[in-house]
Amino acid sequence: MSKICVVGTGYVGLVTGTCFADLGNDVVCLDVNETRINNLNNGKMPIYEPGLEQVVSLNKKAGRLNFTTDYKLALDKADFAFIAVGTPSGVDGEADLQFVRSAAEAIAEIVNHPIVVVNKSTVPVGTGDWVADIIKKRRTVIGTPLEFSVVSNPEFLREGSALSDFMEPDRVVLGSTNREAANKVAQLYSTLRCPILVTDLRTAEMIKYASNAFLATRISFINEIANMCEEMGADVQEVAMGMGYDNRIGHAFLDAGLGWGGSCFPKDVKALAHMAVLHGTHPQLLQAVMDINRNQRRRVIYKLRKALGNLDEKVIGVLGLSFKPNTDDIREAPALEIIHLLENEGAIIRAYDPQAMESTSEVFKRVIMCENPYKVAEGADALVLATEWNEFKQIDLKRIYDLMREPIIMDGRNLWDPEKVISLGFKYFGVGRGAYPNGENNA
Ligand code: UDX
Repeated sequence: MSKICVVGTGYVGLVTGTCFADLGNDVVCLDVNETRINNLNNGKMPIYEPGLEQVVSLNKKAGRLNFTTDYKLALDKADFAFIAVGTPSGVDGEADLQFVRSAAEAIAEIVNHPIVVVNKSTVPVGTGDWVADIIKKRRTVIGTPLEFSVVSNPEFLREGSALSDFMEPDRVVLGSTNREAANKVAQLYSTLRCPILVTDLRTAEMIKYASNAFLATRISFINEIANMCEEMGADVQEVAMGMGYDNRIGHAFLDAGLGWGGSCFPKDVKALAHMAVLHGTHPQLLQAVMDINRNQRRRVIYKLRKALGNLDEKVIGVLGLSFKPNTDDIREAPALEIIHLLENEGAIIRAYDPQAMESTSEVFKRVIMCENPYKVAEGADALVLATEWNEFKQIDLKRIYDLMREPIIMDGRNLWDPEKVISLGFKYFGVGRGAYPNGENNA
């Protein structure tokens, strides 16, 4: 059993702290946001993550998991201090490390016992050395040395499946200049029975960025193929299936649609491209991956204009607002950019999402939030499926048809069967479904 302090109770920190507690460790999660800590102490989660509330409650009751704003309390006798704070994009796309700096300085100011500082946040290559320098410099000012090591331990959690991604990881990556410190962190994961790769700091940091950038590249690749399929009469879902049987390719992350959003891919791909330029290389591929992704949202507007002509005053229904199902996270969500572009052309938006309407209405005041998909369809001239929530899979499309003013469906995630949609009399627009030419009602 180890004593662990986790700095940051955002999506990574809260899941990490909770899971380490669930593995039997004594964990204190710290955040400077008092409201968030008070909510957590009252059982209110800052994020929607399936199953998280129950695991937090169980471990709080067992006394293994505590929440505080007090650094001294959180770091008292801690064997490990996990830095799991946000690293948002700066103006040029670089990772903003102000919160990492604050955490490192606080650890240096407060800790007077041997400790392993673990970078869990996604940080630019070289940040591990930077954190070590910050701590060393503060201790020089304070006048007493601190026995510490820095270990990079990037997370590979997906929103909506974060708990299982933590407890059943494909691999754990550790990087440090101090192999013994890395092995100590490895011990925390030993019961998870997965490959543990121990390497140097910079390599571990690059593994994280390269992994996310590659996944984003796969998605932009299949979306580029999808756009070709629309012009060449091929079906991208069958293409992806045919590709995926090749074990060098695999089936995962080849779903064509509106592309990637969220708090990670956009930020991490931009940050990696920025690092590349700063180091004198030219991220042409990453630039193209980002361009394709941005264009995927704009193609929806192009298709709607093709179907409806001028979009001014047109009523457009949007099903799904979160960047993907099983989360309330709307950061960089395709739906939001599509709504923004549609409102710019004078369209009136009706929307529904199982989890993300509250956060969206804070940003988009004019969107008419509806209590269910059928209310969204009422009087709509087109319906855009932006997030493939399970509850949309079996909705009554005949009822939707009867409620709409114009029978136009823009299936942004290829969720529905085109044959069924067209047989009901809709004009169907999919992504890469070349066998069903956009908008040609084949009924
Ligand atoms: C991602 C990485 O998967 C995870 O390892 C990392 O730690 C954080 O970033 P996340 O952003 O939560 O996780 O979601 P993910 O499931 O990876 O999906 C990312 C985006 O890609 C979503 O917008 C999703 O809609 C989109 N996507 C995913 C596709 O468009 N097609 C696919 O085939 C898969």
